[in-house]
Amino acid sequence: MKTESAGALEQLIARAATVLRRARHVCVLTGAGISAESGIPTFRDALTGLWSKFRPEELATLEAFERDPQLVWQWYEWRRDLVRQAQPNAGHRALAELARRVPRLTLVTQNVDGLHQRAGSPAVLEYHGNILRDRCMLEQVVADRSEDSRHGVPRCSACGGLLRPDVVWFGEAIPREAMLLAAAAADDCDAFLSIGTSSLVYPAAGLAEVALQRRVPVIEVNPNPTDLSAAADLVLQGPAGTILPLLLEQLAHPPG
Ligand code: APR
Repeated sequence: MKTESAGALEQLIARAATVLRRARHVCVLTGAGISAESGIPTFRDALTGLWSKFRPEELATLEAFERDPQLVWQWYEWRRDLVRQAQPNAGHRALAELARRVPRLTLVTQNVDGLHQRAGSPAVLEYHGNILRDRCMLEQVVADRSEDSRHGVPRCSACGGLLRPDVVWFGEAIPREAMLLAAAAADDCDAFLSIGTSSLVYPAAGLAEVALQRRVPVIEVNPNPTDLSAAADLVLQGPAGTILPLLLEQLAHPPG
């Protein structure tokens, strides 16, 4: 691992920019950290205050939903309000811009907040779904709410079935297309960026491992060390909203 001592961060960013400048296909994986500066609590942080007496398994599993759909929906409506109020930050915007600066970029996100799309990133692969969509439990398709859904548990306007948030709960499979396209990108890329993720949750964390096995340069952006840090080629220690604009700046205007 090559972490920065004081003053060396700029040099590491310059090296990361060189990697990106040479890249034909950049694969980016983002996690909750990139939305932290937009005021969206990470999954674990979201279980505070009102919800502190619950464990994630009591709210984000199919079993929890089947046991008490109203409780699970209350929690998701609370989180949805946070997401709706949030705005993309400088980190999201820098990644949208990066996609325009390199020949090819695949952006895979574990976040369910849609902020990459709102910042202008094209073709985002939503590994864990999207909290703002509803999915019909019966038809297993994205669905609209019926008219009488305002009170209690929302129901499908087409078939009357229970609706659930269109996110991946604990123990559930990753959406097939996102999984296949992300795996193909990890297998094809010649630079890998891991941003704002603890690299603890699989299969997402396995994408960086594929890149490492292929000896592709792996760059991490995170204020804290993670499970990936020791193996990463470059660790840019700091908040994504600061580091990514600096990286973009270096990419556009290399010194000397
Ligand atoms: N910029 C970049 N990284 C940050 C910032 C920031 N401003 N602030 C915090 N971080 C880092 C933390 O240091 C941590 O490593 O973001 C990471 C967040 O880690 P997690 O909360 O574990 O989020 P994530 O890796 O996305 O979790 C993966 O787990 O809870 C499930 O399904 C949920 O998608 C989520 C998955």
